[in-house]
Amino acid sequence: MLSQANEKKLDEIISHYPVKRSAILPALYLAQEEHGYVTDEDVKYLAQRLDMRVNEVEEVVTFYTMYSRKPVGKYKLQVCRTLSCMLMGAEQIAEHLEHKLKCGMNETTPDGKFTLMEVECLGYCDLAPCLQVNFDYHEKVTTESVDKLIESLK
Ligand code: FES
Repeated sequence: MLSQANEKKLDEIISHYPVKRSAILPALYLAQEEHGYVTDEDVKYLAQRLDMRVNEVEEVVTFYTMYSRKPVGKYKLQVCRTLSCMLMGAEQIAEHLEHKLKCGMNETTPDGKFTLMEVECLGYCDLAPCLQVNFDYHEKVTTESVDKLIESLK
């Protein structure tokens, strides 16, 4: 279930599409924004609202890394692990972050601040290695720039 305000927003979003199911991506953002992640109830509810099967919603929400199916930290740190970034040092960035935050991949720091993830290409291959923090992109990151970034987010 969504708040009354988000129900209105969902109606508005759905009205922009000729077919309800086409609203699935913004609808999932709405649910995630309200609950911090996409809950089981959100999946069932959006399936019903968008005339989809529950497993179809589940397929979408688990395909895209911008959605979370479990609680995540305030900052979701996503290190690109695709070829260009790997060649430019993404592995070292990922290891550095794991060491600095004392947190493994797909884990959240005990203070609930950071969730560390590896993701596929972020679309900034010419500026590798790349790191996405929530909806912000950081290109050509180094261990030093990552340290500064983490400090600024603490
Ligand atoms: S390979 Fe990392 S952004 Fe494309």
